[in-house]
Amino acid sequence: MVWALAGVGLLLLAALAYWQLIIAEGTYLGPRVVTLMYNWAASAYEHIKQFDPGAEQWHLGLPLAKSLDLIPAPFVLDVGTGTGRLPRALLFQPRFRGRVVGVDLSRRMLDHAVRLNDPYAGRVTFVWQDAQTLPFQDDTFDAVTCLEVLEFTPDPEAVIEEMVRVLRPGGVLLTSNRIGPDAPFLPGKAFAPHAFHEILERLPLEDVKAQDWQIDYDLVWAIKRGTVAGGGVRPLPEVLRCPACGHSPLPMRDGAYRCTGCGRAYPVAQNGVVEMAERAHQRARG
Ligand SMILES: C[S@@+](CC[C@H](N)C(=O)[O-])C[C@H]1O[C@@H](n2cnc3c(N)ncnc32)[C@H](O)[C@@H]1O
Repeated sequence: MVWALAGVGLLLLAALAYWQLIIAEGTYLGPRVVTLMYNWAASAYEHIKQFDPGAEQWHLGLPLAKSLDLIPAPFVLDVGTGTGRLPRALLFQPRFRGRVVGVDLSRRMLDHAVRLNDPYAGRVTFVWQDAQTLPFQDDTFDAVTCLEVLEFTPDPEAVIEEMVRVLRPGGVLLTSNRIGPDAPFLPGKAFAPHAFHEILERLPLEDVKAQDWQIDYDLVWAIKRGTVAGGGVRPLPEVLRCPACGHSPLPMRDGAYRCTGCGRAYPVAQNGVVEMAERAHQRARG
């Protein structure tokens, strides 16, 4: 009897661990665990995903580039960029002559992103920062993308709001919504298609359209409402916003973006990654 109970207990424990760590990838345990797992898996990520370059172009690079055709040099933000899959798909497109900024909380994923986007160096910048506090001014980007990320953040709806905040009116939001067999095991993180649609419709967005994409994800497109003005690439120091105090802009001096509001400095690593994540939580200077 005792052995049977112990066996059942062990099975339940194994099922719980499988759910929390394999299906949910640590999302209910907080961003530290999610980041730990992505840091750990970073070197295997591309091998696990086996991205098909043709499909990446067809579903992501080409339609996104087309949607930005009217802007000579569009400015694009990819949230939870990982190994820089979206930047690569977009920058490969000859019709896209803009720049991309990729944000991620896993420092190791970003190291791979830098290496894999080397052919486009000079047109892409990677920033180490949590998607929950995007370090950019309001209404900055012509497109904001976020693929296979929302369900791994503490509050997906808050991240969507952040993305809409930094998207300029008339800009394109492209995100994914988790569907498929594992989605019911991600309560509060994955949403039924109609519920996801409603979340977006409550925000200043229009033309919300879902599109079949992968077994586990739909693609969802939307446009930010409001008066359309300008657009195009802007200098990074001008649009960066301190994730700790909200001050902007952040001029660059001696290899770091500097907040004149709270005194924090956000250094640029040797490989070009702008390191904000940990600095934002440290105490400000004097
Ligand atoms: C499944 S990967 C997707 C990466 C990339 N978008 C792609 O489609 O290949 C999820 C990514 O989200 C990142 N991520 C998870 N939570 C995050 C957060 N709170 N802020 C920024 N990035 C986060 C992870 O580090 C990881 O790189």
